Amino acid sequence: MTPLEDTIINKKTSNPPIWLMRQAGRYLPEFRLIRELNPDFINLCLNENLSSEITLQPLKRFKLDAAIIFSDILMLPYGLNQKVEFKKDFGPQLGSLNLDKMSKIDEIDFIKKLYPVYKSIKKVSEDDLIKNKNLIGFVGAPWTLLVYMINKYSPKKELIKDFFKDEFSINKILIILEKFLKLHIDQQIRNGATVIQIFDSWAGLLERKDLPKYVYIPTLNLVDYVKSLNVPVICFPRGIKDYKNYCDIVKPDVINIDYDVDPISICKKINIPIQGGLDPQVLLTDTKVLKKQALKYLDIFKDHPYIFNLGHGVLPKTNPDMVDYLVKMVKDY
Ligand code: CP3
Repeated sequence: MTPLEDTIINKKTSNPPIWLMRQAGRYLPEFRLIRELNPDFINLCLNENLSSEITLQPLKRFKLDAAIIFSDILMLPYGLNQKVEFKKDFGPQLGSLNLDKMSKIDEIDFIKKLYPVYKSIKKVSEDDLIKNKNLIGFVGAPWTLLVYMINKYSPKKELIKDFFKDEFSINKILIILEKFLKLHIDQQIRNGATVIQIFDSWAGLLERKDLPKYVYIPTLNLVDYVKSLNVPVICFPRGIKDYKNYCDIVKPDVINIDYDVDPISICKKINIPIQGGLDPQVLLTDTKVLKKQALKYLDIFKDHPYIFNLGHGVLPKTNPDMVDYLVKMVKDY
């Protein structure tokens, strides 16, 4: 059993495992080198030799307990033939949505389009560096993907005006998303992903009354699907106000908390294994502050099944030495 499985399945509380969201990314000079030579981000994700190499880069440097496949949640709309571009210093920009065409997409064509992603997962799963560790596959939650597909770019703090106006189309998109998210999850698992994380980065934009329709029900469908494949599922509904209610309804195997969540109160309220929490900004300070803040989480969760991680992804300005310090600290705890 891997360290992550020991925590998730056996509910082990000592020696918490560690991995970091966005551990393969721009703070690593070896990633930036590859990125500079590959200006098209989607093409980079579709290059199985490079994306598998990038996935393994952080494992070569740090004693992490899991790798997360180098890909993006927006590969799904890309697979559904919506144009997706990543613009420097702006983020993702999506093209117009043709629902009639999208409704007709064939499962085989979708798999063909994303085939390099699955090949990359297979490559990583066969590498010695991943032995006794987990390879984390992931998807965006239906709500967060809906946000990008309709909004066309990152919403920052709010959605475009009239976001909810065309409810018929929204319902249609949600049906398509459920079908292809299941397919995408299934393909990742078949090719070697041993844990699935569902990122709902924009869950915090919704009012409480809209959570059942857009977050709880569609995510529960996916969580049940992953469970039916006998693979643990981690959910990250970033910014959701009531994590306890989310866990009671959606029932993931692990819940990832964001850095606004009070760790003491959540530890008391939630029984399932918890992941994350530490503010990624702390990695931009110094080792003294980092030590204090990381110890806070380790101490609070010392009798709770806990996977050390952050409350959001590693920031591009992070010094890799700080990550090294953090990983060693958690391992020596
Ligand atoms: O190391 C890892 O965590 C694996 C790779 C990964 C990426 N994106 C690579 C990436 C993962 C898990 C994601 C998930 C993702 N993508 C989310 C959910 C998590 C979150 O951040 O809330 C979201 C919302 C996206 C969509 C997305 N992709 C945005 C908004 C951006 C631009 C802003 C940013 O953070 O860079 C991306 C681009 C992206 N995805 C990069 C990477 C390494 C940067 C691309 C570059 O080098 O320019």
